[in-house]
Amino acid sequence: MAADRWDAPHIDTAELIKDKDKKARLDQALEEFRDKPGQLVRVLQKAQEIFDYIPEGVQVYVADRMSIPISEVAGVVSFYSTFSTRPKGKYTIGVCLGTTCYVKGAQDIVKALKKELSIDVTETTKDGLFSLTSSRCVGACGMAPVMAINDEIYSRVKAEDVPFILAKYRNRAAEEENLNGKS
Ligand code: FES
Repeated sequence: MAADRWDAPHIDTAELIKDKDKKARLDQALEEFRDKPGQLVRVLQKAQEIFDYIPEGVQVYVADRMSIPISEVAGVVSFYSTFSTRPKGKYTIGVCLGTTCYVKGAQDIVKALKKELSIDVTETTKDGLFSLTSSRCVGACGMAPVMAINDEIYSRVKAEDVPFILAKYRNRAAEEENLNGKS
C-alpha cells in the first residue's frame, strides 16, 4: 500500500508532512545523520521526538529521502517499542515489569489498568487521555511495584488503587478543559 505510493513518480512525498516547521526539523535530522551508523534508527528517534509519534506519512517520507524501502522503515518502527505509530494520550502510564515489580504484582496493576481503560499495553484510549506502556526495571526496586504517569511516580501500587489514581487524572483533565473553555 504505502510502498507503492512513494514509488509512484507523481507523488511528492514532501506533501505528506503538512507542518512546515516539523518537516524542516526532520530534514535537518536526515541531513545530520546522513551516512552515520544507525542512521535510520536515529532519524526515527528524532521523528518521534518531533511528531510525538511516527505517522505513516513520515515513514514514507523518510523511506523516500533515504532511498530505502518503506518496509524497512516500517520494520524498524514496529521492532522498537519506543516508537509509536499513533498519537500518544495526554497522560502516558508506564508500568515497570522488571523482575522485582513483577514479583510484587505489577501484572495485577496492568490487568486493572487494561480493564479500567479498555485498552491493551501500547494502546491509547479513544478519548486520547491515556496511553498504556510498560518498561523494564527503572531502578526503583525498593518502591516496587512502581508506575509512572507522565513524570509522576507511584510506588507500592496495588491493583485496587488504579481507579482512584486514574480518577485524579480524569478530574485534572476535566478541570483544565473547563478553564480553557472559560478563558
Ligand atoms: S523492577 Fe521495577 S523498579 Fe526495578
